[in-house]
Amino acid sequence: MQARTLYSILLFGGLGFLCGCDRLPGKPKEEDRWKPPSEIKDFALLFNTNCRGCHSNGQTLSASISMNNPPYLAVVPKEVMHKTIETGIPGTQMPTYSDKAGGSLTEEQVNILVEGIYNWAKGHEAPTDNLPPYSAALGDAERGKAVFAQACASCHGSGGEGTKGKGGAVDKAYLSLVSDQYLRTVVIVGRPELGMPGFREYVPGKPMTGEEISDVVSWLASRREGPAPGQSAKTAEIAPKTQPSTPNE
Ligand code: HEC
Ligand code: HEC
Repeated sequence: MQARTLYSILLFGGLGFLCGCDRLPGKPKEEDRWKPPSEIKDFALLFNTNCRGCHSNGQTLSASISMNNPPYLAVVPKEVMHKTIETGIPGTQMPTYSDKAGGSLTEEQVNILVEGIYNWAKGHEAPTDNLPPYSAALGDAERGKAVFAQACASCHGSGGEGTKGKGGAVDKAYLSLVSDQYLRTVVIVGRPELGMPGFREYVPGKPMTGEEISDVVSWLASRREGPAPGQSAKTAEIAPKTQPSTPNE
C-alpha cells in the first residue's frame, strides 16, 4: 500500500471515529433544525415567546401580573386559565392564542402552558384557608370606599391618587385598560414583586373577606369613565356579529 493511501485511510477513518460515523463537523443537531411553530412542545420556550413580554416568569418584572405567583395559582381555577389563554380577554391587551380562534397555538400547546405554569407552584403552594372566590359580582361601591381607606390608602392615597413612589390605583387611563376581574385578581394576589401585598396582608391579622374585595373592586370600577373593558369569553361568543348592511359588491 502506498503511503498516501494509508494516510487517507487513517485520516478519514480517524475523523469518522471522532464524529460517531454519521455526523460530520458542522452538521446541525436534531434540536437545531427548524421546526414549524406548532411543533414546539417546550414549556419554557412557549412561555418566553408568547407570554413573558407581559407576564413575568418570576425572574423579571412585567406590566401585568406574574404567572409564577403561588397565591395567584391557588386562587385561579385551571379551567379559567385554560379558557383565558385560548380566547384572550376581548377588549384588553390579553391576546387570543387558540388556533381555532385565529391564534397561533394548538390545543396541546395551550395544555403544556397551563401545566407548566401550575408546576411553578409545586412545592411552594400558597395557603388556601380563607381564600376568597376568584370571581364574583361587583359589591357596594360606598362600602368599598371605606374598605379602600382602611386597606389601600396607606400606599395609594385616600382617594386612590397615589402617594410618593406608589402609583394611583384609580388613574382613569389605567382603569380604562383593565377588566373588573383583573382588578379583583390584583386585589386578591397583589403585585408582590412591586411591593403590593395580597388580601391577607393589607390589615395585619385580618384577611380581607370576599365581600370586602367585591366592594373595593366596585369602588375602583365606579371611578372608571366609559364601559368596563373585557367581556367574558362567553359574552364574546354569543355577541351578534356585526355585518355590513350593504355588501361591497
Ligand atoms: C403596601 C403598599 C400597598 C398597599 C397597601 C396596596 N397597594 Fe396597590 N400597589 C402598590 C404598588 C407598589 C403597586 C405597583 C404599581 C404602582 O406603583 O402603582 C400597586 C399596584 C396596584 C394596582 C395596579 C396593579 C396592576 O397590575 O395593574 C391596583 C389596581 C392597586 N394597586 C389597587 C390596590 C387596592 C385596591 C388596595 C387595597 C385593597 C391596594 N392596592 C393596596 C402598593 C400597595
Ligand atoms: C400583550 C400583553 C400580553 C401577552 C403577550 C399575554 N398577556 Fe395575559 N394578560 C394581559 C393583560 C393586560 C391581562 C389583563 C386583562 C384584563 O384586564 O382582564 C392579561 C390577563 C391574563 C390572565 C388572567 C388574569 C386574571 O385576572 O386572572 C391570564 C391567566 C393570562 N393573562 C395568561 C397569559 C398567558 C399564559 C400568556 C401567554 C400564552 C399571556 N397571558 C400573554 C396581557 C398579556
